[in-house]
Amino acid sequence: MTKIAVWCRHKGDNIIGIGPKIPWHIPSDFRRFRKITEGCDLVVGEKTYESFPNRTLPNRNLHILTLSPAYEVSDAKHHFVHAHIEDFADFPGELYICGGATIYKLFMTSGSPLMPDIVVDSLYLGEVDALSGVKIDITPCIEIMEKKYGKVSPDYEQENVLTSLWVKKGEFVDQNVLKKLINIISINN
Ligand SMILES: NC(=O)c1ccc[n+]([C@@H]2O[C@H](COP(=O)([O-])OP(=O)(O)OC[C@H]3O[C@@H](n4cnc5c(N)ncnc54)[C@H](OP(=O)(O)O)[C@@H]3O)[C@@H](O)[C@H]2O)c1
Repeated sequence: MTKIAVWCRHKGDNIIGIGPKIPWHIPSDFRRFRKITEGCDLVVGEKTYESFPNRTLPNRNLHILTLSPAYEVSDAKHHFVHAHIEDFADFPGELYICGGATIYKLFMTSGSPLMPDIVVDSLYLGEVDALSGVKIDITPCIEIMEKKYGKVSPDYEQENVLTSLWVKKGEFVDQNVLKKLINIISINN
């Protein structure tokens, strides 16, 4: 029922990855991501799934979007293959949209009921690691966020990362989910 996008982007250029990698390593950001998503259902693109160590994230159900129906997951009990974003239209409970850029853009541009209700927007202020590969940015998603969402929290700073919550304008948002997210982002992780 509640859809939440979670990302960490680089300030200025909105880069979230270079090639398959995230070009920074911020331990508290990983811990915050784990606390937000532990025990939950996450949807990711095939490239992001491939980038996870051992193609898994412990204690989470992973829904992988791929156009290859025969795609084999690493854990058939907890990982599920989907070819259509529409599979998530009536998703019960919370669904965390966790990238990469293609998947954020698909959900952010889809309108209700696929467009996230809440965005957990983390902004990394430091230098990007000098990796080789294609730079992947989510500028179109940020433009949509700034137009169609309102910021409902202060910026919480930790290890050079500012995190805030944004909510889709004019929509009801589950207050328990909001409270849970505020609790997690407002304390040091
Ligand atoms: N900083 C962050 O918060 C963050 C978070 C997550 C990821 N990332 C980074 O983002 C980068 C990956 O992003 P990306 O955009 O290249 O890849 P991605 O979004 O992870 O995955 C793209 C894949 O999704 C599948 N797909 C695309 N459209 C689809 C559709 N309409 N229906 C079903 N499946 C579809 C395709 O898989 P097939 O080719 O198998 O068909 C496509 O190759 C990496 O650098 C990663 O580290 C950063």
